[in-house]
Amino acid sequence: MILSPPVLVHLVAGARPNFMKIAPLYKALSAEPEHFCPQIVHTGQHYDLNMSETFFREFQLPKPDLYLGVGSGSHAQQTAKVMTAYEEICLSRPPQLTVVVGDVNSTMACAITAKKLNLPVAHLEAGLRSRDRTMPEEINRVITDTIADILWTPSPDADDNLRHEGIPDSRIRRVGNIMIDTLRMNEPVIQCRRKYLEFGLAPKGYGVLTLHRPSNVDRKEPLESIVHAVRTCSERLPIVFLIHPRTRNRLEEFGLWDDLERCSNIHRAEPQGYVDFLSLVANSAFVVTDSGGIQEETTVLNIPCLTLRENTERPITIQQGTNELIRPDALLECLSRILDGKWKQGTPPDLWDGEASERIVQHLKEIIAASVS
Ligand code: UD1
Repeated sequence: MILSPPVLVHLVAGARPNFMKIAPLYKALSAEPEHFCPQIVHTGQHYDLNMSETFFREFQLPKPDLYLGVGSGSHAQQTAKVMTAYEEICLSRPPQLTVVVGDVNSTMACAITAKKLNLPVAHLEAGLRSRDRTMPEEINRVITDTIADILWTPSPDADDNLRHEGIPDSRIRRVGNIMIDTLRMNEPVIQCRRKYLEFGLAPKGYGVLTLHRPSNVDRKEPLESIVHAVRTCSERLPIVFLIHPRTRNRLEEFGLWDDLERCSNIHRAEPQGYVDFLSLVANSAFVVTDSGGIQEETTVLNIPCLTLRENTERPITIQQGTNELIRPDALLECLSRILDGKWKQGTPPDLWDGEASERIVQHLKEIIAASVS
C-alpha cells in the first residue's frame, strides 16, 4: 500500500457506537497535519439528536465534512443507500485511505464501496466474532474483515479469529481498544458528573438497563420475558432504563409500555449522551445490556455486566472482565450475587490503556515511510 503525505483519510461513522471510536483517532490524526488530512464521513444511519449530534458536541468534533443522510430502512435499503452515496464521494475526490469502525451497516457498506474502487480500507475493531450469523453485525464483521487491507484488532482472540479465516499476519496489527481512549479522554468530566441525582438515586443504589438487539426486542415473547424479569429485579433495586428508539417502538407496539409505566422503581429515559451515560454506569451497582461496547466499558470500570445474549464477540470481557452472558430468568439470582459482593472483579485486558489511537498513527507513519523509501 502506498500512502503519500498529507494522506486524505476518511473516517466513516454512521451509528451511535461509531462516534466514540472515531473521536480519538480524528484528534490524533489532526495533530499531525504534515502527515494526515482526516475527514469525517457521517452516513446518517443514526440521525436523532441524542443518537448522533450530541456526540459531536461532547467529543468536540467538527461538523462532518461529508454527510450522506441515508436514514433508516431495511438492511438492503440502508446498505444500498450508503454505497450509492459514498461511491459518488469516492469518485469525485478519492481518499488515500478509508477507515471504517465497528460492525454496523455503514461499516460494511463503505468498505465494499471503497474496495470496489481499488481504494485502501482499514478496519478498526477488526477480528471480533460471535459465530452467530443470524446477527446482522456478524455478517458486517466477516465481510469487512475479508476485504480490508489493514485490520486493527483490540485483543489476541481477534487476531486468532482472523488467522483461522486465513488472513495473513501482514494485514493484522493489534492496536488495543479505541473505546478506552475515549473513556480515558473523558474521565475527568465523567467523574464530576452525577447524573444519578436527576433520578433521585444514590451511588451503587441502582442498576442500568439498555436493550436494542433485534433478537431481544423485535418479537413480543423475548421482550416480554425481559420486561417481566426487570420488573421483579426493580423490587430489590431501582433500575434506570435508557430506551433506544427501536425498543421504544416495540414496547408500544406489543403493549408493554404501560406495564413499565406502572413500575415506580423503573426510571425510563431517552438514550443519553456519552458523559451522562458513563456517569450513570460508573456509579451503578450493575448493568444489564445487550450492547457490544458496554461489555468493554464495564470491564474497565469494574462494574458487573449482565449481558442478555447467547453469545458475545467480546469473550475477553467474560474471561478477564466483569461480564456474564445470561438469560432473563437468571437476572434475579445474579442481582443477589452482586448485592452479596460475590461478583467477579475485572482486569483491563492488555492494550486497553487509552493509547490505541497513538498506535494507529504510528502504524500509518510506518506505511508512509515505507512508501517514500
Ligand atoms: C444499529 C446497529 C447496531 C448498533 C446500534 C446502536 C446495524 C446492523 N445495527 O442498530 O449494531 O449496536 O445501531 O444503536 O447497523 N431510529 C431512530 N432514530 C435514529 C436511528 C434509528 O428512531 O437516529 C429507529 C428507526 O426506527 C430505525 C430503528 O431505530 O428503523 C433501527 O435503527 P438501525 O440503524 O436500523 O439499527 P439499530 O437498531 O439502531
